[in-house]
Amino acid sequence: MSLLSYGDRPVEIAEGETVLSALLRAGIKAPHGCRAGVCQGCVQRALQGEPPAQAQEGLSDAQKAQGFFLACICAPKSPLILAPIESSSPRLDAIVRSMDLLAPDIMRLRIEPEAAFPYRAGQFLELVASEDLKRCYSLASHPEEDPFLEMHIRLHPDGRMSRHLSQNLSPGDRIEIAGPEGNCFYEGVEPDQPLVLIGAGTGLAPLWGVLRDALRRGHRGPIRLYHGARDRESAYHAEEMEVLARARENFAYRPCVRDTAAAHGGDVAATALADEQASLAHAAFFLCGGEKLVARLKRELFLGGAKLKHIRADVFTQAV
Ligand code: FES
Repeated sequence: MSLLSYGDRPVEIAEGETVLSALLRAGIKAPHGCRAGVCQGCVQRALQGEPPAQAQEGLSDAQKAQGFFLACICAPKSPLILAPIESSSPRLDAIVRSMDLLAPDIMRLRIEPEAAFPYRAGQFLELVASEDLKRCYSLASHPEEDPFLEMHIRLHPDGRMSRHLSQNLSPGDRIEIAGPEGNCFYEGVEPDQPLVLIGAGTGLAPLWGVLRDALRRGHRGPIRLYHGARDRESAYHAEEMEVLARARENFAYRPCVRDTAAAHGGDVAATALADEQASLAHAAFFLCGGEKLVARLKRELFLGGAKLKHIRADVFTQAV
């Protein structure tokens, strides 16, 4: 019996090689993100065989019992038969409703799908400009509060997608979307648990959705949101956050702007890690941002006593 099969198809895998790498080498479009066991974007399911325990860390007990595991950190020692992932999410058209700037290099894009698009606040979708130009963006909108889907898009000077969106798209145009995906949503958090949201740049988008969802659902524990930004202009939504913090006793907003005079130089990870020492063992953490930031936070939180099952992450990978 082959060590790895994808449904009926045997897949060659070298000793010590990960399932993700073997699948990709075999030309199988296996979803993935960080390749470091952080984002959970590479989840596969074993129909037969037992994935190593280390490849299931951070998954819920229900997921483990069903054979789910992280393919990017799974080097199997015994045979595994994987459930082939069904065809990717269906696509549908959406109409562009508005485009405006939240900061000099951050565009807010609002679109309205032409058919039902059920999602949870904090998930992400894929925007499809063409078969070779697709990108995932987190949703800042709330399914019960907003009649549109909202994304915050970093405008990279060399970014093909962000250039396409900002230069070729106008309100009234159509764009294809697929999804939703991701597990960065409030469900599963205890209402009295401290809720700690940490993000940088446009990582604020899913946190904004999760925050509003938590408040809507009557979250009773303290909620602290740390937003890392390069400068004051990039700390977008600061006013809305401050208004919310004044109105809600259990919500605190901590903008972290890079500045040598600020505590920890305005480093969002260092600030959050220092402030959250007392809550590490029992808080629910949501981390959103680039690979390095999320990997650092996840590692430090875990080493400090946070439980992996209480850490959810949405990792942004930069593609040009
Ligand atoms: S790609 Fe495996 S956890 Fe991110």
